[in-house]
Amino acid sequence: LEDAKKIVLKEDESLPAAVRIKLNNKKVEFGTRVKVFGRIHRLRVQKQATFITLRDGYGFLQCILPTGDLTKTYDAHVFAQETSLVLYGEMKKVPEGAEAPDGRELHVDYYKVLGAAPSDLEAVTNKVSRDQDPWEASMLDSRHLVLRGENAAAVMKLRQYVELAFIDSYRELDFTKVSPPAMVQTQVEGGSTLFKYDYYGEEAYLTQSSQLYLETAIQSLGNVYCIEKSFRAERSLTRRHLSEYTHVEAELDFIEFEDLLQHIEDLIARVVDKILANETSAALLKLLNPTFEKPGPFLRMKYSDAIDWLNKQEPPILNEEGNPHVFGDDIAEAAERRMTDIINRPIFLYGFPAELKAFYMQKDKEDRRITESVDVLMPGVGEIVGGSMRMDDHEELLGAYKKEGISADPYYWYTDVRKYGSSPHGGYGLGLERFLAWMAKQHTVRTACLYPRFMGRCKP
Ligand code: 4AD
Repeated sequence: LEDAKKIVLKEDESLPAAVRIKLNNKKVEFGTRVKVFGRIHRLRVQKQATFITLRDGYGFLQCILPTGDLTKTYDAHVFAQETSLVLYGEMKKVPEGAEAPDGRELHVDYYKVLGAAPSDLEAVTNKVSRDQDPWEASMLDSRHLVLRGENAAAVMKLRQYVELAFIDSYRELDFTKVSPPAMVQTQVEGGSTLFKYDYYGEEAYLTQSSQLYLETAIQSLGNVYCIEKSFRAERSLTRRHLSEYTHVEAELDFIEFEDLLQHIEDLIARVVDKILANETSAALLKLLNPTFEKPGPFLRMKYSDAIDWLNKQEPPILNEEGNPHVFGDDIAEAAERRMTDIINRPIFLYGFPAELKAFYMQKDKEDRRITESVDVLMPGVGEIVGGSMRMDDHEELLGAYKKEGISADPYYWYTDVRKYGSSPHGGYGLGLERFLAWMAKQHTVRTACLYPRFMGRCKP
C-alpha cells in the first residue's frame, strides 16, 4: 500500500475534453469522452480489469478500469461500495452477448475519488443486508443507507411520479391547489388520535386532515385540493398506519353523492394512466410490481351488504370479538383486508352507519341511520380513500358537535360554511403511502415513505 500511495494519476491532456453527463442521458453517442460523477454501487475486481457499477441517482453505468496504473493506486485498493468519485473515459457499446445497464460501458482513462467509504467492518454492506426486509427495525435504523438501494430508491422515484400525476389530474379537472395549516385547534377524525402540543400557552394539535379548511375554500375557489401532511397518534402497529402521512384531499362544491363516487374513480384512473403512459414511471412500476394492471370498474358495495357478505363466507369472516358481524360493527382491518383480497378488485364500500363515522357526515335522506360516506378498498392494502358528503344544515351541525361532545366555539369558521350560503358538497382524503403500497406492491406503507413515522419511531 505504501507503493500504491506513490502512484499519482494524471489526466492525459491529449485526449478530447470530457463532456459531463448524468447517467440517464441516453443520447450521448458511442465514442464520446465523458465525465461522470457517482458512487460505487457494485464492485467486481477481476484479473484483467476492475468493474464498477456507478450510481448517480439518475441511472447506472458500467465502468471498466483496465488493470494497470488505474487499479494500482491507493484509492483503487480501498475502493468500496458507496465510495464517491468522478470517472473520465470513452463511452462504448457493450460487446455482443455481454450485458450492462443501457447496453453501454465506460472505458475509464482517469478518475478521482471524492469521498471514500469504509471497506472494513464499517462497510455499508455490513450495515444493510439484502436478506432483511426493509420494514424491519434494524433496517429502519439504517433507512438512510437502505435508500441507496435500487428498490427503495425506485419506490421513492415512483412516489414522485404518483404525486405529479395527482397534480396533473387535478389541473385537468380544474381544481385549485391550496395549502391549509398543519397547526390547528380543531379535530376532524376524533380526539383519540390527536397529537397535542403547546402553542404559545394554548392547546393546539397537528392536523388530522385538511378537510375542514378545504370546505371553507370552495366558496371562492371552486373545487379545491391539497397534498399535505396529516398526523395521527395511532396507538397500533399495523402495516398501513403511520403517525405522519401524506394526504391527498379534495373538496367538491354543488355535487351529489353519485358525483363524488364518479370523480374518485375517474381520478384514480387518470393517475394510473399517467403512470403507465410515462416511460420512466412505467419502468419503475414494472420493476416494483411486474404484474400491475390498470383496475377495471370499481365494485360498489353497500356497508349492510358487506356485513351479509362477511357472514356468508365459508367459514364466516368474524368481527374482532370473534362473533359474526352485525349492522353497526366496524369492519376492522383484518376482515376488510380479507374481503378485499377475496373480491380482488377495487371496491367502493359505502353507506356506513352514522355512529361509526365522523361528526360532519351527511345522513342518507332515505335512511337516517346511515351516512353518505364511502371508502375505497384496494386488494393487498384495504382502505386507501375515505370520503363523504358533508352535513350542510346549520342546526344539524350544531347538534352534531354536541353529540360528539366537542365545543362549537373553535369551529365557528367551519360552522359559517353553513351560515353564509350553504351548499351540497363533499370530498375525500387519499393516503398517498397506501396508494403507493397498492401500486408498487409494498408489504407496508413504511417503505412508501422516505423516513416513516409510526408509534415508537421518530428517527432517523
Ligand atoms: O378516512 P380518513 O380518516 O378520512 C379523513 O381524514 C377525511 N377527513 C378526509 C377528507 O374527507 N378530506 O383518512 C383518509 C385516508 C384513509 O383512507 C387512508 O388512506 C389515509 O387517509 N390514512 C392513513 N394513512 C396512513 N396512516 C394513517 N394512520 C392513516 N389514517 C388515514
